[in-house]
Amino acid sequence: MDNATLISEIKGLQREKNAIILAHYYQDSKIQDIADFVGDSLELSKKAAETDADMIVFAGVHFMAETAKILNPSKKVVIPDLNAGCSLADGCPPDAFRKFLKKYPEHKVVTYINCSAEIKTLSDVVCTSSNAKRIIDSIPKNQPIIFAPDQNLGKYLIKETGRDMVLWDGVCVVHEAFSIEKILDLLKKFPDAMIAAHPESEAHILKIAHFIGSTSAIRNYVKNHNHHTFIIATEAGILHKMIAENPDKKLIAAPADEDNTCACSECAFMKLNTLEKLYHCLRDESPEITLEKDIMEKALHPINQMLQLS
Ligand code: 13P
Ligand code: SF4
Repeated sequence: MDNATLISEIKGLQREKNAIILAHYYQDSKIQDIADFVGDSLELSKKAAETDADMIVFAGVHFMAETAKILNPSKKVVIPDLNAGCSLADGCPPDAFRKFLKKYPEHKVVTYINCSAEIKTLSDVVCTSSNAKRIIDSIPKNQPIIFAPDQNLGKYLIKETGRDMVLWDGVCVVHEAFSIEKILDLLKKFPDAMIAAHPESEAHILKIAHFIGSTSAIRNYVKNHNHHTFIIATEAGILHKMIAENPDKKLIAAPADEDNTCACSECAFMKLNTLEKLYHCLRDESPEITLEKDIMEKALHPINQMLQLS
């Protein structure tokens, strides 16, 4: 099927099944164009929490679709490719995390939304990159905190909040791969460029960034900032919407290290989803996200805590 036919089939199925298509900025541009809503992790969770659609097609990675399911236990939540994982979620296995928590019985557990539902059941509150500071600031100063699973975001938050948190040592393979040397070379070529970086990036990248924020925050920064050239240190999929809304600005995707095995600043997990798989999953209502009732109930509490604080 060609793309035009796929798009019209998807639209027809969507109407027939009263389905909503939610997509993250890191999705393929064709998926972003057909989605009902494109956003960052927090905005997508909020949309999932408030939708009255009968089915949620989650064009993102597994932990995002799981969150949508936890917020809508009676709805069908499908994802184009069930293997669309995340290095942060994969790098925090529940048994090892349980053992880790035992060493810090007095600590409150703040987990980045990029983790499995089971890890969320072990958490006091979930956060995303756009509300993490606010959530940590809401915890009394004398309360010790564990932050998991992203250690780069954790280190950034320690600096921002002045809290001495215990960190789990997970990383995002995409944001970890940016090359400081190549970004500095780009700066020599474009000395007026502003660097906007996602806080999952390493400390040396954040140190030279003019702006640090979530994907939506980066999008708004570039849109509202009267400057010509920007180097964008996050997954390259975000450039799709940004180029369309900033036709007169020069937007450069921050380059990754050469020995990086995945494509330059692209998340291989996110890119497993394709328009064709989106069509199949809408048509077949599969692969579906299923979770044990007990896990959903326990994971809902820290997600709701986050939504209340956002
Ligand atoms: P945000 O959507 O919160 O910016 O996070 C980016 C990300 O890496 C999602 O996997
Ligand atoms: Fe996970 Fe990083 Fe991909 Fe986001 S970009 S889904 S954090 S691996």
